Amino acid sequence: MNPKIGDLIYAGKAKDVYETDTPNHVIVKFRDDITAGDGIKCESLVKKGYYNSVISSKFFEILEESGIKTQYIELIKPGYMLCKKLRMIPLEVITRNIATGSIVKKFPFHHNQILNPPIIQMDYKNDVYHDPMLNDSITTALSLATQQELNNIRKITFKINNILKDFLLEKNILFPDFKIEYGFDSHGNIVLGDEISPDTCRFWDLKSWEVLDKDLFRNGESNVMDAYMKIASLILNNEDKEKWNISHILK
Ligand SMILES: Nc1ncnc2c1ncn2[C@@H]1O[C@H](COP(=O)(O)OP(=O)(O)OP(=O)(O)O)[C@@H](O)[C@H]1O
Ligand SMILES: [Mg+2]
Repeated sequence: MNPKIGDLIYAGKAKDVYETDTPNHVIVKFRDDITAGDGIKCESLVKKGYYNSVISSKFFEILEESGIKTQYIELIKPGYMLCKKLRMIPLEVITRNIATGSIVKKFPFHHNQILNPPIIQMDYKNDVYHDPMLNDSITTALSLATQQELNNIRKITFKINNILKDFLLEKNILFPDFKIEYGFDSHGNIVLGDEISPDTCRFWDLKSWEVLDKDLFRNGESNVMDAYMKIASLILNNEDKEKWNISHILK
């Protein structure tokens, strides 16, 4: 496929969404911008978009192979992902396998408490209201999704968690939590959209519990890109690495 990039439809905090010459397709451009705290802390990290697009593509491919419907069509080149255009559902669907971050501030979970079964939490994706946590009654009353759609989203999310948790464990990576977004494709199917990257997931080294995700940026550490590159080098196979010319990052 050789899609043509068209008009910019939307510029978010870390990605841009462009029209293409096919009506139901978009190009998601992963930028180098990184933000935290509702966008208050904002920087640019060289090649962050490059690595996040490659990492996300790998996860989307794994999920597609396991029968999950995703937006992913192809990575045109690092940074530029060809996707199905979705009508996004304004929910941040968060899955937690280990309690850390905001959940231990809001509720009396112990830091690093294992959550089995995992918690699925849904926040309203709305910067004006600061992404408040929802329950099903509020979500349906606001017409963000129907009860049936919510049930379906939970079912798919549990599957995604199992697939990715197992894949990552094989790569010696712990998967404490992650945030995903869904939308409707042109046939009305609920489809996984957005990204799956160290910007939107927590990844810890299995043995040392070393942090390998955006928490490093939130905490003002300097080695953010090293961690993102390490995730890429751990999850990609040699063929992927050669294809995306990232063999130089192998340590
Ligand atoms: N396949 C898709 N089709 C259309 N829109 C998508 C698709 N995947 C993701 N999006 C939307 O594109 C935007 C991606 O940009 P980004 O993640 O940078 O935005 P954001 O910072 O999360 O949030 P905001 O939307 O509040 O600016 C998000 O609004 C996301 O919901
Ligand atoms: Mg986003």
